[in-house]
Order: sequence, then structure tokens, then C-alpha cells
Amino acid sequence: MVVYLLDWLRRYLNVRSQVRGLPTISSLFEFCKSSYRQKLPHIPYIVPVRDYTIETPWDKYAKFRSDLFACPQLSAPSYAVYVTSNSNAAVLISNKSGLFGKPIDMFRYVAINIFGNQITSTQSGDEHHRHKKIVKPCFNENIMQTGWSKMVEAVQTMKVEESIEGGGTIRDVKDCMIKLTLFVFGRSGFNMDFPWNISQSKAGENMPFAEALHTVETSITVQVLVPLWILLHFPLSSVRRLGQAQRSFVSHLKAMYHSKRLELQASSEYDEDGNIPSPPKDILGALVASQMSAESEERLKAGKTSEKVVGLMESEVIGNICEAGHETTGHTLTFLQAFLCVYPEWQDKLYEEIISVCRDEPPSYPHMSQLNICLAACYETIRLKDIVMTLPKIAMKDTTLPYTTWDDEGHISHKVHRVKKGSHIIIDSPALSLNPFFWSDPSRFDPTRFLDANGRVSSSINNFAGFSLGQRQCIGKRFAEVEMVAYISHLIKEYRLFPIEKDGESVHEMKARILKGTEELTLTPGKFAVRFEKR
Ligand code: HEM
Repeated sequence: MVVYLLDWLRRYLNVRSQVRGLPTISSLFEFCKSSYRQKLPHIPYIVPVRDYTIETPWDKYAKFRSDLFACPQLSAPSYAVYVTSNSNAAVLISNKSGLFGKPIDMFRYVAINIFGNQITSTQSGDEHHRHKKIVKPCFNENIMQTGWSKMVEAVQTMKVEESIEGGGTIRDVKDCMIKLTLFVFGRSGFNMDFPWNISQSKAGENMPFAEALHTVETSITVQVLVPLWILLHFPLSSVRRLGQAQRSFVSHLKAMYHSKRLELQASSEYDEDGNIPSPPKDILGALVASQMSAESEERLKAGKTSEKVVGLMESEVIGNICEAGHETTGHTLTFLQAFLCVYPEWQDKLYEEIISVCRDEPPSYPHMSQLNICLAACYETIRLKDIVMTLPKIAMKDTTLPYTTWDDEGHISHKVHRVKKGSHIIIDSPALSLNPFFWSDPSRFDPTRFLDANGRVSSSINNFAGFSLGQRQCIGKRFAEVEMVAYISHLIKEYRLFPIEKDGESVHEMKARILKGTEELTLTPGKFAVRFEKR
């Protein structure tokens, strides 16, 4: 026991010596990487959560006068943890996949594999390439057009179901946006008539697909935290329901996967050589088609009888369809509407752009390339409300990290810090987006930051990692952009948005409340209401 404790102490002191020279937030327990750090109580030296200034991400760097600091933690003495908001470091870490990998043993990545292994939680290199080869071709133009048209259907349905056709109030914008993006996911992902309101069926073995998907997605935190067998045997029927939903969801997905394969095999468009002249317009179909095309490519190379498994396994295709990012999109759209309420002049600017591009027509997919201010407003929302929050990486070799320090007068020094193999490095994306050395008046909502001199959304935006960077950046970025621009252009063309104050609340308090986010698996907006007035 004594030997064990001494070894523990030795390793901890070793970590402390590795981070020497940098500012530190020391703790007993690991908390910097947790998605739930905001929910932990602040206990100095044990879990000093407040020192991490989660709600004002730049404050800790301003205090340290350094854009790199370390978090030595006594409970995890095997590796050093660094946190950076330095854009050169973020770019370096993201582009050198041989030097920096993903800490795939982290709970966040292990947990998202509950439906089957999927691309986000693969290690960079061969395993990631194997997934990307199948997943990337799905995000083609057909799927983008589907995303736009399904979002338009969703907006029309929302207007009817939420009774705002002639104007009205949506009481819980976040809840509504989750319904909206699930509706789009159900229809564009599986080409099915996904309903707006999902009724609860009697408890039983097999839940209908829409209900199972809705239940799983709205309880995703519990689903990833609690093992299925506990959910299924829990004394409370409401919790058992979550387990039944997960089981039904996976069994529906498997059935859909097989029927999609049969459908594509039988399709007259699918010729003997495995070519599909007209690719499917739903994401599951595109994923299965991409998998089948990889299999037939392999058969052609290796001879017709090859039984070698190529591409993804069935469970991996299923895992990947679940990484559809509708929660990230739903939360971004919620925050975007909050910003447009707080900065109403931007509603006018969006409206002017929409009218000048679309005139009397409803905004359509071909208009998207000209709706630059609409897209820039989405980016600016993500800059100020970074939905994914942390991008954890791991050093695969001994290396160095660039960083910057400054003094009271603002004199800057550029430095490098040696980092040992196995160290964890968190790209602090919310702080990177607020770094005052790169962003002027960083907390002001100003979409023009993302426009170039020609008024177009700049394709290479520096100092912004809201969709991550490099090889591991978001594969669904374009799809998310299409969904968000389709939504906001249709909404603003028809409505003016007004926030609703609570009794006794000042305007200042109301603005702070509707813009507040809480860290969960992703940054989650609170409940707030918006009045929609017809133009
Ligand atoms: C506003 C919406 C979205 C934001 C802010 C966002 C952001 C991100 C971020 C930061 C990552 C890197 C995560 C990490 O390394 O741990 C990521 C990865 C990913 N996202 Fe998104 N995302 C959004 C929407 C979507 C959508 C709609 C889809 C799919 C339809 C999607 C699919 C993916 C996939 C598959 C990856 C993994 C990529 C890889 O590892 O190669 N995302 N996203």
C-alpha cells in the first residue's frame, strides 16, 4: 500500500514538473474535461469549478495572462492535462493527426457508441479513414437538397402545430427546435412521414420507430450514462420505458438497414457492376449505398467470390446514422433566435438580404449561396455559444505546443511548451472564439465578422473551431448549414421575433436569461418564450 501511494505521488510530482512554468488550476479530481463540470459544486483544490470560469470562458486566460494553462489532478497522475485557446496551437493539433489523436477512452467517446461504433469516436488514422470512406459520400448534393426541403416541410408543420400561422407565441423555443430538428432527421434520415407530435403508446416490447427515436433522443444523457440492463430492470416504469425505447430503436434500425439493402439490391437502378446512377435521397439509404458500393468495389478487385468484410460492419452503419447532429443544430437555432431577439436590428438585416435574394419567392436551396448574412448569423451564434464546447486531444508523441503570454501593458511574448506523449490537450473552443487578441469587442453579436470584403461567408475562418478543425472537423457541417439557413430564411421572411419578459424582470435580466446556456452533453439553452408577429 505504501509503495503504491509513493508511486502515485511520484507520478503526480512528475506531472507537476512537466507543467512547470505554466499557470495551473490544481484539483484532487478530474473535472476540466467533464461535460458535467458546471453541475459540480465548487470546492477549492478538490473540484475548483469556478476557477474554470465556464460561463465567461476567456476570464481565466485574462487572469493568467496566458492562452495555455495546465490542470494537474491528483486522482489522475498518469498524464498532464493542458487547456489552450491559442489559435496556432488549435490548428497545429487539428492538422497533425500523427502527432495528436483523440482520447477515445474518454467517457464522452465511449458513451456515444451505445448504438454501434461510429466515426466521431474512432482513433485518427486507419480506423477513422475506414469510417470516413463510407460516411463522407453520404453528404452529397442530393442529401443537401433533401435537408433543405425537409426543413421547409418542418417550418410549415411547426406553424400549424404551434398555432403561429397568423402570429403567436412559442412558449419553449428549445423544445420546439428539438421537435423541428428531429422531424427533419426522421424525414431526411429515413424518408418516412415523421410526425410533429409524438403520442405515447402503451408500455410494451416494441415501440413505434418515431416514438422510440424521440424518447431516446430526448433522454440521451440518461441513455449514455446508464447501462441498458439497468434501465430495463429499474423499479420505475418511466425509466424502464427509456430502456424499451433504446431496444426498440436499435431493432427498428437493424430492420431498416436490411430492408434498405434488399431495396437497393432489387432496384432496377442498381446494375450488375454495383453502380447506382441515382443515389438515394435519405441519409440511411445514402449510407447503405455507400457501404454496398465499397463492398462491390472490393469484389471487383478481389474477384466475384470475395467474402472479405470491407467498409463498415452492420452495427457501425447503425452507429453512424445515429450521429446525425440534430441536437447541435437544434440548440444553435434556439440561441440564434435568442440573439435575434436581443439584437433586433439583425432581424432587419437578415430580412433585407432575404427579400433582395428571393423577392416574392419562398427561399429555396439554389438561393442558399446568396444568403450570406443568414449563414454568417449562424456562425456568429456558434462563436458566442459554442455547442460542443471542448475538443479533447491526446499527444501521440513527445512534442511542443505554441502559446502566448502578455503583461499588464499588453506586450505579447510567443513561447513553446514541451508536452510528453500521452498528455491530454483540450482545445478550449469557446475561449478561442472570445480571444480579444483576435476578435474585437468579442462579446458583441456581429455576423459581419464572418463576411469577407465581397460580402461572402469566408471559407477559412481563423480563430474559430465551432465545427472543429482539420481531418476531424464536423462531417455534417454543410448539412447543418443548409438546415439552419433554410429555417431562418423562411422564418424571418414571414415573422418579426419579440422576446417575452417574465413578471418583475428587467430587460437586462431577460436578455441574460434567454442567452444563458448550461453545459450538458452539449451546451443547452434554457426555456424561454418568443412572440412571432406576422410581417
Ligand atoms: C450546428 C450544428 C453542428 C455543430 C456545431 C457541430 C460541431 C461538431 C464538432 C465540434 C465536431 C468535432 C467533435 C469532436 O471531435 O469531438 C463534430 C463532429 C462531427 N459531426 Fe458535427 N456539428 C453540427 C451538426 C452536425 C450534423 C447535422 C451532423 C450530421 C448530419 C454532424 C455530424 C458530425 C460527424 C459525423 C462528426 C465526426 C467527424 C469525424 O470525427 O470525422 N454534425 N461536429
